[in-house]
Amino acid sequence: MIETARLRLRRGTTADIPGLVAALNDWTVAQWLQRPPFPYSADDACAFLRWSRAHEEAAPPAAYVVADRASDRLLGVASLEPQEARAELGYWLIPTAQGRGLMREAVGALLEDGPMRLPGVRTVYATTDPDNYRSQAVLLASGFRKVAEEIRDKPTRRGGSVLFRFERPLHTEAA
Ligand SMILES: CC(C)(COP(=O)(O)OP(=O)(O)OC[C@H]1O[C@@H](n2cnc3c(N)ncnc32)[C@H](O)[C@@H]1OP(=O)(O)O)[C@@H](O)C(=O)NCCC(=O)NCCS
Repeated sequence: MIETARLRLRRGTTADIPGLVAALNDWTVAQWLQRPPFPYSADDACAFLRWSRAHEEAAPPAAYVVADRASDRLLGVASLEPQEARAELGYWLIPTAQGRGLMREAVGALLEDGPMRLPGVRTVYATTDPDNYRSQAVLLASGFRKVAEEIRDKPTRRGGSVLFRFERPLHTEAA
């Protein structure tokens, strides 16, 4: 578990399923995402919980539920998923939690925790839709820089064919 001033990044539980289903069926959230299915069912939420907790005994979850620190209510998800020397950052917030700088706070905590949790990872990357200005602002404010514009294998839910790739070192002292 990771805590910040306003947030708790914790393992997902079955109590989060209704919140996951509601958020990921909301087009204002889902239109920007690639991995969660759309429409999104309770079975999809169960599969997500199983996946995020798969290595529970050995390591922290690949994906944290971002919860309100005071109420513990689900506000979103933030993941840092390792693939050898790289890790992919992904995130979303429920609409009512957006616009308050919460994801910048969550990403900052996740990256600070990363070197201890993922010692083999050197580089963190994230991809965004070119029109997702808020996500790009979160990445730039978190020390990422845009490194490429790429053609997607298949179009996004919004019909886009381009993605922006951002990267930063995980160990900033090595930057
Ligand atoms: C992307 C997302 C996580 C951003 O989190 P957030 O905490 O709501 O971010 P905020 O809106 O508070 O802040 C983001 C930044 O975008 C800026 N911003 C907002 N609207 C903007 C716009 N139209 N153009 C440029 N910048 C904009 C804000 O000023 C802020 O920058 P600052 O911190 O330097 O002031 C959230 O909007 C979300 O969950 N969206 C839907 C899912 C999604 O897009 N996930 C990411 C997929 S790559």
